[in-house]
Amino acid sequence: MEVIICPSAERATLLTAQLIADTVRTKPNAVLGLATGRTPEGVYARLAQLHKEAGLDFSKVTTFNLDEYIGIPVSHPQSFRGCMERDLFSKVNIKRENTHLPDGMAHDLDAECVRYEQTIAAAGGIDLQLLGIGLNGHLAFNEPLSSLASRTRTKALTPETRRQNAPVFGSLDDVPTRAMTMGVGTVLESRWAILLATGSSKAEIILKAVEGPMTAVVTASALQMHRKCTVIVDEPAAEWLQMKEYYRWVFANEPEWAPYRELVLAGR
Ligand code: PGA
Repeated sequence: MEVIICPSAERATLLTAQLIADTVRTKPNAVLGLATGRTPEGVYARLAQLHKEAGLDFSKVTTFNLDEYIGIPVSHPQSFRGCMERDLFSKVNIKRENTHLPDGMAHDLDAECVRYEQTIAAAGGIDLQLLGIGLNGHLAFNEPLSSLASRTRTKALTPETRRQNAPVFGSLDDVPTRAMTMGVGTVLESRWAILLATGSSKAEIILKAVEGPMTAVVTASALQMHRKCTVIVDEPAAEWLQMKEYYRWVFANEPEWAPYRELVLAGR
């Protein structure tokens, strides 16, 4: 795991978008894993801008989203398909048939979960998986105590998660109670995972996920087992980390990050 501490949420967002854009430029048929939530919205805005102004080409890209609510149609503005359509898919030249989310309206939800895993495998697996982190440490909708070996399946959402998501639904009663989500095991198979977290509200959970013990209570801590995981945080989200100076040293000295130092540090 590597941690990149950015001077602002804006720089963290720009860096994340740049890493995704460079992946697509290097491998035009990249398979991207995408996330919803407030945190990645700026990443998608930047990718849309890079498409418009710099010709970033999504025509051969395939995407798989982490999760989808059960029981609301894709036409619902808060369905994750609806969010992706609004924030990214409608703004770049991606082919809709190459964009995948679990079907939360499927008649047979268990069969849909199996089909989703098979579709990921048939695409050759995920090259780069973008992730957020919930205040309770959930990765996708893998709520606390999710098996760290889990695959795509249905999950009940915790009251905390439903409260966190209530503002965009208008009322708590309107927030679905269940979702379909890639499992922790599914996420761990991606070839590269980028976790983006910004703001002081995430400081405590970032400490637990990055420097705490690996535990199913904080499913994001399973990323410590990931073969290549980059955690991108702003200063407020990094506040409680104990080894900040080491992380800064790695970013300043590892050749891999040389092309990105100016982008990050120009924001100081
Ligand atoms: P957020 O959600 O980006 O809206 O904070 C993250 C998550 O719950 O995974």
